[in-house]
Order: sequence, then structure tokens, then C-alpha cells
Amino acid sequence: MRRLMRQHTVTADDLIWPVFVHEGTETILPIGSLPGVFRYSIPQLVEEVSKAADLGIPAIALFGVTPREKRSDDAVEAINPDNATCQAVRAIKKHLPNMGIITDVALDRYTSHGQDGLVRGNVVVNDETVDLLCQQALIHADAGADMIGPSEMMDGRVGRIRDTLDEKSYQGVGILAYSAKFASKFYGPFRDAVDSTGGLASGLGFQGKRTYHVSPANPDEAMREVAQDIAEGADAVMVKPGLPYLDMVRRVKDEFNMPTFAYHVSGEYAMLKAAAAQGWIDHDAVLLETMLCFKRAGCDGVLTYAAREVATLLGRYEFDY
Ligand code: PBG
Repeated sequence: MRRLMRQHTVTADDLIWPVFVHEGTETILPIGSLPGVFRYSIPQLVEEVSKAADLGIPAIALFGVTPREKRSDDAVEAINPDNATCQAVRAIKKHLPNMGIITDVALDRYTSHGQDGLVRGNVVVNDETVDLLCQQALIHADAGADMIGPSEMMDGRVGRIRDTLDEKSYQGVGILAYSAKFASKFYGPFRDAVDSTGGLASGLGFQGKRTYHVSPANPDEAMREVAQDIAEGADAVMVKPGLPYLDMVRRVKDEFNMPTFAYHVSGEYAMLKAAAAQGWIDHDAVLLETMLCFKRAGCDGVLTYAAREVATLLGRYEFDY
């Protein structure tokens, strides 16, 4: 009876697995604040993604980690067609052509200061940054990305990226816009993973991000950002962080009826792992319940570092709600 009446379900089709890749030779590099998440070498990443494919996960969100010495104020490594991201896209597509790849477009992993855009004086400049983002999106498409994920929240970038892709006949490459992305401290462990915490500790710092990410206090502003990205051609929109922002997921889904995703971000994942390590919560049950809550709120899918765990549990666990 419960199965008959159940309104929402979770399947592997709902999952996007965010992964970190580095260009060095170390097979795996751990991330202190993200237990179970690693920065993989390119060959190792292909192996790991192939396990995700076997579990039925349709797509990954790819984050290339830039070595310190290649970061600069002008972020040129972001538009190097041989950077870690582009190499990884080519390697995965060669071995796993059916795995969907969403690449991250933003400059935070390429700038010495860790801001998502170029800094002039003490301002993160929008329009110059967008010029660079367009080039970044293009090299990702050239490498074989299926979708571009602009995650920096600069104004006007979705439309400009769309035009850039179309001009080069990449009409088939989609845009998953990080549209309702909040200036959140839940991203802390991610910034450790991509080694941008140090840079952010100086210069404009975390406050700088507040000039382009939405304030957690401003849901209406976030709705306007979503509307703008859709008008500019976004194929799917995202709310980020996830659990603390499910009210936004519901509003976005009801208002726009778009493919809507949420990012179960690093801080949320880390909290779950930490409580489980203490024996304070039932990890597997809470993880699956969390995924179900994303679906109930209106998500078509969830980006989660726990994607492979979720997919594994779905086959094993009595999901008896
Ligand atoms: C970069 C980016 C961030 C995340 C995804 N892309 C960090 C930030 O904006 O500082 C965070 C993801 C997470 O915390 O898991 N623009």
C-alpha cells in the first residue's frame, strides 16, 4: 500500500556526481573536510566515473583543480584548452561517451585571489569577466562537454555564453545555470578541495563574493536572477546550497516549470559525514531521506558528492516510506 500511495521516489536518474580532477600524477588526493571525496588524477577519474556509469548515474559535474603556480590575476589558465578540465572531458568522453559531462564555468579556481571574476581595484568586474567566461565555455564545448554550468552569477553571462556557443555551432550544448546561488558559508569544504580558501583569506575575501552571489536574506532577488537566466536561454536552473534553501527550489519550480536542480553542497555533505562518524545519526537512512526531500521540494535532480553512495544504497536499502 505504501508503494502504491507513494508520491515521490529517488532513482539513479536523479543524480549528478560532482568530481574534482587534478593534472598531477598522484592517483588520489584526499580532502580533509570532505571525507570520501577525492581529487583524482585524470586516469583515475576515468575509472571512478566508469563505476558511476555502472551504477546508472547519468552525469557528472566536473571541477578541475588548478595548481597554485598556474593561478594568476588574469586567470588565463581558465581558457587554456589543455587545462585539467578540458583534458578530463576528453579522457572521459573517449572511454565513456554516454556519460553526461557538465563543466563548471567560473574563475575561482584560476584566479590567485579565489574570486569568481576578475578584480580591478577592489571591485569584481562583471563585463570583463563575462568575456572570459564565454571563452572558457567554448573550450569546454570544444573538449566535448554536454552542458556548461556557469556558477559565478555574473550578470548577462548566460545569454553571452549561449550566443558564443551558437556561433560555433554548439547549439546542442546546454546551459545549466547556477541561477539562485547564494553567498554561503556552506561552501567551505569545496574551497578546501579546490585550494581557494587561502586566496580568499586575503584581498576582497569572502565578502567579495557577496557582490555577485545572492544574499541568503533575499529570496525575491534570487527569483529575479532565475527569471533573467531563463530569459537569456538557460536550459535548466539550479538552487544552491540545497537543504537550507528548499523553499527556493519550491518557488522556482512552481513559478517557472523548468528543469530544476539543487546542489547538496560540500558543507551539507560534511555535516552529514561528521554526525555519522560520531554515531549520532543513521547515515544511510538520513542520506536517502535527504534525497527524497529534494525531490519532494520540486527538484528534477540533485548534485551530491554522495551520488555513488545513494545509487548503491537504492539497490540495497529497504526504501520504505
Ligand atoms: C565556484 C563554485 C563553488 C561551488 C561550486 N562552484 C564555490 C564558491 O562559489 O565559492 C561550491 C560547491 C560546494 O560547496 O560543494 N563558483
